[in-house]
Amino acid sequence: MDAPHAPHAPHATFKRRLLKWYRNQARDLPWRLTRDPYRVIVSEFMLQQTQVSRVEQYYPRFLARYPTLEALSRAPASAVREAWDGLGYYRRAENLHRLARVVVDEHRGTIPADPATLVTLPGVGAYTAGAVASFAYERREAAVDTNVARVLRRVFFKGVKREEGRGKSTNRTKEIWALAETLLPRKGRTVWEFNQALMDLGATVCIARKPKCQMCPVQSACRTGKQR
Ligand code: ADE
Repeated sequence: MDAPHAPHAPHATFKRRLLKWYRNQARDLPWRLTRDPYRVIVSEFMLQQTQVSRVEQYYPRFLARYPTLEALSRAPASAVREAWDGLGYYRRAENLHRLARVVVDEHRGTIPADPATLVTLPGVGAYTAGAVASFAYERREAAVDTNVARVLRRVFFKGVKREEGRGKSTNRTKEIWALAETLLPRKGRTVWEFNQALMDLGATVCIARKPKCQMCPVQSACRTGKQR
């Protein structure tokens, strides 16, 4: 019999299948080859509103121009804007530039590892803070963006409608974050994989319209897909 605090069976199945799938099918993305917090944060800023395929094109160019946070912090605004050219939503570039200066001036040039500190930086919300903590520092933190929230909602909360709002504000959003935290594997290295895996599932299988349930690795553990 399970110990009183053993993971709920659907949680364990979901985690096991998702990780197995990710280990076989992970997308080979440049920001997954590094733990450099600066490189991770650049990728997360770019990915906030831009498709992976486009970011893959522009990410190396930006990093060639600004290989370190220090270099970015010293750059003039006009040059940063130019380096961001092609990605759009320039507000992100402005925030990233400000972030570089704040980190140099107030954090001795080291990007913080703690989500509570990360969210105080320009352009960093709850999602980006969790992503940097787990992807750069392998901290045991959840990172719930729109795609991940959709996956978790479908798998664990059948039939609830999407609620408007961003960040951790609404009850439904808080519930999803709490669930994501409950699901986190114990080891940081596995948390890194788990969070990346949720992103891949949301981007390639559990897509917003017409999810590909027939090829989903967690279908048997899913409260929505199982019914199809
Ligand atoms: N979107 C945001 N972060 C991502 C990541 N690390 N991999 C793929 N898509 C993402």
